[in-house]
Parts: sequence; C-alpha cells; structure tokens
Amino acid sequence: MCGIVGYIGKNKIKDILLEGLAELEYRGYDSAGIAVLQDENFSIYKAVGKLENLRNKTQDFHPEGFAIGIGHTRWATHGKPTELNAHPHIGSNSYVVHNGIIENYQELKASLIKEGFNFVSQTDTEVIVHLFESKLTKLNDPVKAFRATLDELQGAYAVLLITACSPETIFFAKHGSPMLIGLNGDEKYFASSDTPIIGLAKEAIYLEDGENGYLDATSTHLFNEKYEPVKEQTKALATSKLSAQKDGYRFFMEKEIYEQTHVISDTLMGRLGEAEINFEELDPELFLGINEIKLCACGTSYHSALAASYLFERYSKIRCSVEIASEFRYKEPLMCKDTLFVVISQSGETADTLETLKMAKRAGLKSLVICNVDNSSMVREADASILTRAGIEKGVASTKAFATQMVVFWMLSLYLAKQRKTLTSIELAKHVSLLREVPSTVVVKDELHEKLRRLSKRYLHGHGFFFIGRDVFFPLALEGALKLKEISYLHAEGYPSGEMKHGPIALADPELFTIALMPTNLLYEKTKSNVEELSARDSTICAISAREFDKADDFIKIEERSHYMHEFFEMMVVLQVLSLEISVRLGNDVDMPRNLAKSVTVE
Ligand code: AGP
Repeated sequence: MCGIVGYIGKNKIKDILLEGLAELEYRGYDSAGIAVLQDENFSIYKAVGKLENLRNKTQDFHPEGFAIGIGHTRWATHGKPTELNAHPHIGSNSYVVHNGIIENYQELKASLIKEGFNFVSQTDTEVIVHLFESKLTKLNDPVKAFRATLDELQGAYAVLLITACSPETIFFAKHGSPMLIGLNGDEKYFASSDTPIIGLAKEAIYLEDGENGYLDATSTHLFNEKYEPVKEQTKALATSKLSAQKDGYRFFMEKEIYEQTHVISDTLMGRLGEAEINFEELDPELFLGINEIKLCACGTSYHSALAASYLFERYSKIRCSVEIASEFRYKEPLMCKDTLFVVISQSGETADTLETLKMAKRAGLKSLVICNVDNSSMVREADASILTRAGIEKGVASTKAFATQMVVFWMLSLYLAKQRKTLTSIELAKHVSLLREVPSTVVVKDELHEKLRRLSKRYLHGHGFFFIGRDVFFPLALEGALKLKEISYLHAEGYPSGEMKHGPIALADPELFTIALMPTNLLYEKTKSNVEELSARDSTICAISAREFDKADDFIKIEERSHYMHEFFEMMVVLQVLSLEISVRLGNDVDMPRNLAKSVTVE
C-alpha cells in the first residue's frame, strides 16, 4: 500500500519528509517522491526504487525556515513504477499525493483532456490535481475548488494537496484509506499511519472516512463529507514504532488477515461492471486462439491456482491444468501454442515459477502473471500482468495475497466467460453482485476469533491433522494444512474428502484431527458422508459449516451463505486464524517461522 506524509513548520522539512517515508517503507513501495513549497516556490523530487535513490536526488536541496511539504511512497496499482508515475503529481501550480484507487478516473481523465489538460502519467491519481486546477479556474477559491474536486471522486483515497495560490496551507481528505494529522504546537504532520510521527507529534487526529479540510501552522479546519465543521478529536500517539507498523496487532500475519476485507475492496475496485469484469491492463486479444489455460505456481499460490482451475472449467468452459513449478521445470512438458501459460506469485520472484515462465515463453506460448508486486521479475517477463493489490505482505505465511489471488481468479473466470459467451448476462450480473459482497465475508468477527483462540488449546498435539474438502474446498484444505504446518510445525495434510477411504482412513483414531470443510452450497451431502465415515472410526473431527453437524467433536459455525465462494472466503479466514492461534499457543514466531523465507528465489 502507498504511504503518505506531510509537514507544515519551520524545522528541517526535507529530513522530516524523507524520514517519515522511511518509517512507511514497511507498507511496501516501488517509487517515492516529495514536494516542498517555500516562499511560493516549489521543489519536487521523485525516484524509482528505494528511498536511497530519492535521498541521493535531494542531497543538494537544503530548505531552511518555514515551509510546507508532502511526500509519498507508491505501491503501483495503475501504471508501471516509473518517475512519471511516482507521486507527487503535478499541475501548473499544485501538487498532490494519494493513497487508494480513484474508481472513476478514466471518465474524469477524458473530460479533463477535452478541457485541455495534459496528462504525463498512467496513474489514476493525476486526475486529482488537474481536476482541482480546473475547479480553481472556475471557482477562484481553493477551498471551494478542493471540495468540488472531492465531490467528483469515486473510490478510496487519502489525499494531500498543496497549491501556490495558498502557499501556507495543506488540503487533505480521507475516504477509505488511512490518514492522520499529528499536532505539536505550530508544527503539523500528516501520515498514513502513526509510525512516522511517533516522537515528533504529541497527539494525533485519526481522520474518519469522509473527513476533509485544510490546515496551516496556526489553525486546523476539519469538516465532514457534508462540509459541516467537525470538532477535532485528538488521541495520544502509540509509543512503539514496531507495534505501530503492526497497527496494534500482535503479528503482521494477524494484521494481514484483518486487512483482507480492505485489500479485497482494492482488488475489486474499478474492475466490476454491471454484468462484466474490466481488466484495463489486459488486451482481450491475449485470449485469442487460446483453448487451454495452464496455471503454474508454488506453495500457497499453487493452491489458489488449483481452486481457480475449477472456476475456469465451470464458468469459462475452458480446459485448465495446474502445475507445481518445481515439477514442471524438469518433466519435459508438452507445450502447445494454443495454451495460455499463467503464473501466479505474490512476490513475482520465486525462482521455480519464474523459470517455468521463461520456458513457456521460449516455447512460444502467450503468458500472463497474477502478481502482487509490480515491476517484479515475473511482471517484467510475462506478456501481460494482473496486479492483486494486496499491498505488502510481511508475514511469511501468505494470507491476503492468497485471498486477493482468489478474487482475481474468480473475476478472470468471469471475464473469460463473457468473452467466450459461456455465461449469460444475468448469470454474470449475479456473480458481480456476489463479488461485491466478498469483502464482508472476510471480516474477522471478535466472537469467532475468541472461539478459535479458545479452541486452539485442544489442537496442540496429536499425530497429525487432515484438512478435507471437495471441489474448490480441496485446494482450500491444502492451504489450511499449509498454514498450520508453516507456523505451528505440526504435521498436517490437505486431502480430497472423497479420497479418505482410499487409504488415509486407516489413520483414523482419536489422535487424528480432521478439519472438515463442509459448505452447504456445494456437495454438502457427499462431504457429510465422508466426514461421518471418519467420525464412525472415532477420529477427532472439527467441522466448519453453516449447518449444525452433530457428529463433530468441535463445530465452527459460519454464516448461511447463498454461494459456495462466500463460504470459501469465510472458511479461509477460519483456517488462517485457527493456525495463528495454535502457533501462538506453541510459542512460535508467527511472522518469521523457522526454515522459511518470504520469497524463495533459489531452486
Ligand atoms: C505460503 O504461505 C508460503 N509463504 C509459500 O508457500 C509461498 O506461497 C510460495 O513460496 C510461493 O511464493 P510466491 O507466491 O511469492 O511465488
């Protein structure tokens, strides 16, 4: 996710902005920039890559005395990581930084171009500064112009804007992306999280959605979305920077599980039509002449690929095969030019997956990567890429990256279904409305988390776990087993429910723990009979379902859902939290499990 900083005051503004951005590095970024306005003169610096590159560019810039400034670290969602796409974005005499996604930026951009504005970047953000200057010309009042700008923005944003026509004022707005204001006498700070201002500001205003306003060194003007004045509510700042980076959660993994509802909204943003899916980054011709999709990945990304294969064959009516990258590399695979080769990777750097992508390209196949990191090796290598927009994932055990991969795959299966006319508009519209509800299905409810925390004490030993499920719940079972293995070091395996009787049921006894995924909207009766076979042999069963099941030793109830994919996402959260709480009880390092790396860049 992008990071934003701002400052008004007379101290070393360049250092304050750069150090603030450094404190936001944990959010992940691929470019950065700052803009300073002093005595009505603007100075702007932007650089691709690490902050060091920006520091080097500003080494001869030493503003002294009162100034205002804004800074930004960018995690690419629209447009490649380049200097032109880096923030701040520039108008004729205004600058803006933005975190979030402007969902209607294309129509705004089109009308601004008609007005004669010249765009230099591929980003959605650039429309904000040109729209502001368009309004300023008409209204001749920066406050009114800023408000008129906000009224036209749709989507998620945290925005800071500075303009030469109000050289001691920073304009701000928060809607869907975090931002806070730090106060310390006549010094004012802005940041996406409190980490950058801990030790600088004494207290903070944590902006609520819809809040906006402007401030200078002597006064703060805060309004709600109706532009009615809001009384400032200040709060004491956190004292530890590391806990601030975790936003108060115990682990990055825990934070990332809770973030899923927000990042999935970002993944969906700008991509859902009424009865179609819009991937502006895809050329529809990519799929011309394609009769098969081959998915290739490792680990958790392999699990999302496996689940996706059910969706592609069910909805897009296209053959879909799935490969484990380390196996595919050496099996002397047959590769046909009518196959679209799709690699999936959170990091975009996994050596085995990257190598299979190169193999496919050498064989002349068209390629697509579904990835969380723009400008990664795989994104640069593939013919096309779809970004998952999960933001940086620091927990080694992948959670939100998996969730956003699944959302992208569901959307892609529908995108193809429309192109191949394998779903009607009514069916597509139904799926679109189901997709809009996904963020709500992954909200972690307090009572669920507390139940799983209590339950976890009963699953700290035994001679192993089976996670079982059918259809897309089989890959989810694999993923649940991997989560548990990774962070608890207990043995677990995912298995198709229907396969248990072909051998594994020999293990059934009270010491064998079976986590049974029992969706009510997909093969419930089949799954139920498989679980009953285990229960009859005294295996310890933990059933996850919306429907009461009395043959389980433990039962985790999820909500009644109208579609199995909603059950999928809700059960995914249960598995993630259960693994986390078991690991906590075992005293393991949840974020940095032994023997593991976040990105496996070696064979
Ligand atoms: C998942 O929790 C693990 N961290 C691991 O299996 C990971 O999914 C795998 O190494 C693939 O990584 P990638 O998605 O970055 O390619």
